[in-house]
Amino acid sequence: VGPVALYDRSGVAYDAMHVIRGLDYAAGAAKVVAAIRERSPGARSLLDVACGTGCHLAELRGSFDVEGLDLSDGMARVAEQRLPGVTIHRGDMRSFELGRRYDAVTCLFSSIGYVLTEDDLSQAVRTMADHVEPGGVFVLEPWIHPEGWGGSTFRVEAGMVEDVAVSRIARSWREGTITTLEMHWTVGTSADGVEQFFERHELALYTVGQYEEALRAAGLEDIAHDPVGLTRRGLFVAAKPA
Ligand SMILES: C[S@@+](CC[C@H](N)C(=O)[O-])C[C@H]1O[C@@H](n2cnc3c(N)ncnc32)[C@H](O)[C@@H]1O
Repeated sequence: VGPVALYDRSGVAYDAMHVIRGLDYAAGAAKVVAAIRERSPGARSLLDVACGTGCHLAELRGSFDVEGLDLSDGMARVAEQRLPGVTIHRGDMRSFELGRRYDAVTCLFSSIGYVLTEDDLSQAVRTMADHVEPGGVFVLEPWIHPEGWGGSTFRVEAGMVEDVAVSRIARSWREGTITTLEMHWTVGTSADGVEQFFERHELALYTVGQYEEALRAAGLEDIAHDPVGLTRRGLFVAAKPA
């Protein structure tokens, strides 16, 4: 099962787990807004690629006219419920074509890691860069880098958010430049009952240099890399020549 089928099923569980883990989307989005405003103070339109359930868009829409895009219809539908009136496109970050450009394009929370080859990395970055207006900004939050991989992990997280109860046992390991995250979910509500499912995510480890090369090859310039970023995985910010 590919990542999209996984995400089709787990949107509600995904959001509940973020609340349980204390992920601060507002703080992350504030950093993204500051990075965009620093390069392009007048930026108005923003596209969030691989927007998932729209948690960043919910924060970013206070500052920009936002749209989202995701390959998973399940995630996109949760985003549409969260953000009435906001357009959420379905598309693959490697090949989408929306017929317009945006002052800022973002791709956050390591979604880029799902492209598993260097060719696909270049293709995805080029496709996203092609949707940035001349003079606009591209913001990319990478997956961790090969030297940042801290070793295999095994943990359990569980809790209840409103009436959604969720638990997740997660195992991760690395083979070469591919990291595998295996997740065993139990999710339920009092109205709908409880279900269990299993996910296996594969994400590729690229170096800072590989990301920078993909950004340069896509015609972007003034490439800055902040090693901390939003979630300690780093952040790239680059400009499209005016
Ligand atoms: C870790 S989630 C991040 C979601 C969101 N950006 C956030 O911060 O919560 C990864 C997302 O990437 C999407 N995705 C995976 N491969 C994709 C692709 N090739 N094109 C577009 N979206 C993709 C998944 O459907 C999922 O919603």
